[in-house]
Amino acid sequence: MRGWARQVVETPCGPILEEAPPRLLSDHATRFMLDHLRVRPGDRAAEPGCGSGVLSLYLERAGATLVAGTDLDPEVLVAARHNAHLNACTRVRFVRGALLEAVAGPLDLIVALLPHKPGPRPFSSRFYGGPDGTDLLLPLVAQARSRLVPGGRLWLYLNSIADIGRVLGALEPDFAVSLRAEKRRYYQQAEMDALCPGLCDYWQSLQARGLIELGRDAAGHYFLARIYEASRR
Ligand SMILES: C[S@@+](CC[C@H](N)C(=O)[O-])C[C@H]1O[C@@H](n2cnc3c(N)ncnc32)[C@H](O)[C@@H]1O
Repeated sequence: MRGWARQVVETPCGPILEEAPPRLLSDHATRFMLDHLRVRPGDRAAEPGCGSGVLSLYLERAGATLVAGTDLDPEVLVAARHNAHLNACTRVRFVRGALLEAVAGPLDLIVALLPHKPGPRPFSSRFYGGPDGTDLLLPLVAQARSRLVPGGRLWLYLNSIADIGRVLGALEPDFAVSLRAEKRRYYQQAEMDALCPGLCDYWQSLQARGLIELGRDAAGHYFLARIYEASRR
């Protein structure tokens, strides 16, 4: 497609070819999830906030029998459907809708890499997650509670710039939660302030209130990128 970029995403189940407008291409966070996610054969799976579809396509490759990817952005869905065709994935469907509202039936697996950067005001719908980063994560937890079968799993990508305590608190009554992976995600302050002027100052104010976790070492500023697996009791 005109103006689109192409990349090959290496996964444990072989390469996935991805084409999309450059701003929609999957990134390090998607690859981090791909490196750790465990799929069981026969899973009925969903990915709210599917973007260009790489994680959803991987779910099919890894053995899920049904996969539903959802997104609110119509341009994203064009790219995701294109990528399903490109990779000959026939068990994935991409639908427009908020979180899991457009997905029917019980689920065994939900994989979510949703916007959760907190900010003083809304910015990119790809990244903004509300004043403390939990605007989408808390409704997702509520949906996962009602949609996952007992033993079903929610795999959640969660950076320490969001109020993780609120998310884990919402999961705690109904899910057994395990931290599956963690790494330092280094960033330039200019990179974040380009998303929303004043973003880093805002994060410092959240850190001062003990709501989020930022760090700094010899390599620079960082936050912690984490992957949690929450199993429905
Ligand atoms: C950070 S991107 C992640 C995309 C994809 N999961 C990946 O790994 O490349 C987040 C996506 O969530 C979508 N999104 C934002 N709010 C949403 C909502 N309420 N329901 C579904 N998708 C949403 C955005 O349009 C964007 O495509």
